[in-house]
Amino acid sequence: MKVTVVGAGNVGATCADVLAHREIANEIVLLDIKEGFAEGKALDIWQTSPINMYDSRTIGSTNDYSKTANSDVVVITSGLPRKPGMSRDDLIATNAGIVKTVTENVIKHSPDAILIIVSNPLDVMTYCSYLTAKVDSKKVFGMAGILDTARYRAFLATELNVSPKDIQAVLMGGHGDTMVPLPRYTTVAGIPVTELIEKDKLDAIIERAKFGGGEMVKLLGTSAWYAPGAAAAQMVEAIIRDQKRIFPVCAWLQGEYGLKDIYLGVPVVLGKNGIERIIELDLNAEEKALLNESAEAVKGVMDVLDGMNILA
Ligand code: LAC
Repeated sequence: MKVTVVGAGNVGATCADVLAHREIANEIVLLDIKEGFAEGKALDIWQTSPINMYDSRTIGSTNDYSKTANSDVVVITSGLPRKPGMSRDDLIATNAGIVKTVTENVIKHSPDAILIIVSNPLDVMTYCSYLTAKVDSKKVFGMAGILDTARYRAFLATELNVSPKDIQAVLMGGHGDTMVPLPRYTTVAGIPVTELIEKDKLDAIIERAKFGGGEMVKLLGTSAWYAPGAAAAQMVEAIIRDQKRIFPVCAWLQGEYGLKDIYLGVPVVLGKNGIERIIELDLNAEEKALLNESAEAVKGVMDVLDGMNILA
């Protein structure tokens, strides 16, 4: 199986490293616009193979999309990351043009590929790629929910002093401050989380998870990469191995949850066909209200993209 990762920055390179190290794909192409950069990162990753004992090959390409031809899955991480003080939405003007060009080039050489978008503002860049690619929405979706849920699960693991492996959770909505964690659907080895933690502590963790990306930007001066890169690789794995895993994914909604023509984070089944099913949870009124609020925030940024007229 062949996977391309576009953008050899921190997130893209981390994703390629995880894909190679875990032998998720046997051929990985890392592509970047900066001369020699992707080749350098790919060579560095390949040189870990005798140490980490794997044989997946990572090759680099400076903007030569012919090297990406016939990829099964393409992860798009291109675009600027956030700087302190910026919201993800501040990136739209720059990143929309980049995501559009990248998607055109990718689809030209891999018309059947499944596209996973990682660029920010995530939900709207996924929409941008979908409009550009003109393929089935089951094959164009965004990575955010796994990352946001991972942050929430990691915070819970620290607070409860238990293994993160035992924490199951789902988080919905946009990849922004309006994201919707669902404590009612959070369990620790099958035990409802509310039986193990006081409400105020759980509320504080939910707040921290919602602003988890911003916390990283403040600490690092740029966006995070280990967790985002690993999260994207986990989606690639579910597709390539046809695992039918259930993840929160930024998906095109056509009436699910009462929402239409919008990209938003919802639980889906991921397999070889991409999004094989959207799972509709029976949300209560409060959860539904939070989801609608998040949808409105995302729709506002989608409207900004539509108004830019760059997709004509
Ligand atoms: C984050 C960026 C990648 O949440 O959106 O860290």
